[in-house]
Amino acid sequence: MSDFARTTVTAALIYANGPIHIGHLAGCYLPADIYVRYLRLKKQEVIFVSGTDEHGVPITIKAQKEGKTPQQVVDHYYKEIKSSFEEFGISFDIYGRTSDPAHHKMSQDFFLKLYQDGKFIEEVTEQYYDEAADQFLADRYITGDCPKCQQPGAYGDQCEKCGSALSPTELINPKSTLSGASPILKETKNWFLPLDQWQGELEKYVNSHPEWKSNVSGQVKSWLQDGLRPRAMTRDLSWGVPIPLPDTEGKVLYVWFDAPIGYVSMTSQLTPDWEKWWKAEDSRIVHFIGKDNIVFHCLIFPAMCMAHGGYQLADQVPANEFMNLEGDKISTSRNWAVWLHEYLKEFPGKQDVLRYALTASSPETKDADFTWADFQTKNNSELVAILGNFVNRAFVLIDKNFEGIVPEKAAGTGLEADVIAALAEIPAKLDQALATYKFRDALVYAMEIARIGNKYLADAEPWKIIKEDRDKAGTVLNYAVQLVAHASLALEPFIPFTAARLRTALGLADADWSAIGNFELIPAGQKLANPGLLFEKLEDDVIQAQVDKLKATKAQMELASKQVAPIKETIDFDSFAKMDMRIGQITAAEKVEKSKKLLKLTVNDGLKDRTILSGIAEHVEPEAIIGKQVTFLANLAPRKIMGQESEGMILMAEDADGSLAFVQPSKSVWNGASIS
Ligand code: 2FM
Ligand code: ZN
Repeated sequence: MSDFARTTVTAALIYANGPIHIGHLAGCYLPADIYVRYLRLKKQEVIFVSGTDEHGVPITIKAQKEGKTPQQVVDHYYKEIKSSFEEFGISFDIYGRTSDPAHHKMSQDFFLKLYQDGKFIEEVTEQYYDEAADQFLADRYITGDCPKCQQPGAYGDQCEKCGSALSPTELINPKSTLSGASPILKETKNWFLPLDQWQGELEKYVNSHPEWKSNVSGQVKSWLQDGLRPRAMTRDLSWGVPIPLPDTEGKVLYVWFDAPIGYVSMTSQLTPDWEKWWKAEDSRIVHFIGKDNIVFHCLIFPAMCMAHGGYQLADQVPANEFMNLEGDKISTSRNWAVWLHEYLKEFPGKQDVLRYALTASSPETKDADFTWADFQTKNNSELVAILGNFVNRAFVLIDKNFEGIVPEKAAGTGLEADVIAALAEIPAKLDQALATYKFRDALVYAMEIARIGNKYLADAEPWKIIKEDRDKAGTVLNYAVQLVAHASLALEPFIPFTAARLRTALGLADADWSAIGNFELIPAGQKLANPGLLFEKLEDDVIQAQVDKLKATKAQMELASKQVAPIKETIDFDSFAKMDMRIGQITAAEKVEKSKKLLKLTVNDGLKDRTILSGIAEHVEPEAIIGKQVTFLANLAPRKIMGQESEGMILMAEDADGSLAFVQPSKSVWNGASIS
């Protein structure tokens, strides 16, 4: 890292087709922000670039669903996404948009250079076409079974299950997502980047980075092993960056061609000096992404840059795996997510709590799981009990005994050398973990400072010493304040809102990383401003409300996805006519002993009272159904159930959620009325 003069950090350009959730935050934006804040604290030259990806089929599909134009969709979500990131302290230097004219121009120029240098293969191929929709089916307009892992529902450009990059024609059993129909093949011209020709160069590139995370290099090497194939860099679609060539109406650049160029075009919006950040040999590029973006950042974009010439290739691509929610994959379509805008409403001012909880269980090497119970534990047992408690004790004791002024150091308790030694171990470990993208570990090291502080106060007991030896107690509190200051620096990348509050309280103007471990940060005599409680305990009912909300979502989704049973085999009229269905009235109802499901009903059928056993005990209360008219099958052969004879069957309608309801006449009729 030291060979580089500056670092260009990017975070994936998210599609502007929906709000963002904790999976997005944990997947790439939080790690990227932690890393950038760390570099800034080290006074390194760094820019942090991201924005929204506003082209591609995900946008047009959303627009079609909502009856809006693609432009309306991206305008809405750009604002919403940008503001959520701001609220969570994701400290981009620029948050741009790929619909920006400057971006269109830069990606068209990039394309033209490749075209003019003969880097594309221009080819007429047969592509899938939906005749009903009168449209070619690119990318997410077509789904089918993945040819690699057989997963149904793989998209035309990628299988989300195994991560393979696909072409629509590779899909097994392809279906149009527009009409559901099987598409036909139709000829069209497109421009392909012959990735196969770059295979050797790409292998060299990937092999020169043995330090890449194993989840990243594993995926990349498996694609290389399979052998790369030419990939179309244009699409037959109307929404996107127009192809800068004559006679190309109805065709645009492939969204994965223009999107990564977005990092560069957004940098050009940030600074006129943008080329330095992408082309200078002493610039280092780091792409933070989720695992579904690995192939595009590690192979396709590098191949584009190689073909173009002049660009530096990414030095690191620290992709994370996925964050699940309560044991299930986060899904926008199933509404299985914790949305950032909703979290902010329900937990106002608690952005750092979520940042902390997501980092502590970040999916760095494998998929992780966010649970509300764990969120509560992270808040109550770590932020409140360790950090909050330590800081609060230090400030309150100084307020109470020293009028809020940092006391002088005098002779200590004998524990101070251990405190200094323990603190001294942290900077190197913290630095190493952050520099190698191990943010979970880094957070543990940073929190260790608060743990040291808590232990020190508990062992030294300044609240007791103060009675006999004011100077000694003052010394302990001076040490404690220094530890608070170190914690405020070390925790800044992770929980920046809290860190800033602490620095203000301490009067620590400059957040300088190199100061961690140099013990004296706050001079004696400094007036402190107690920040109050940093965190508050989250009670069980607050957490339960979130769990219940998710449960309700799941129930709703299950209901919505429930299919009406297919119609049974056709029967003739005589078969129907054999069934003697009638209306009767329940005159008595009682539970059947030792059975959870059965009720013993007495039904007046107009001729007599008959006994019918019915499996409805879990759906109705016996007392509540007496007097009700119901439909029953009168000529069903009597049979014994749990030792009792049942003479017929009550007809019930089963609702989507599995609950049962009587089939009743729309007005009261005479008992025995026959159904025909
Ligand atoms: O997966 C996605 O949300 C893509 N829009 C990411 C693009 S990253 C970059 F290359 F622009
Ligand atoms: Zn697959």
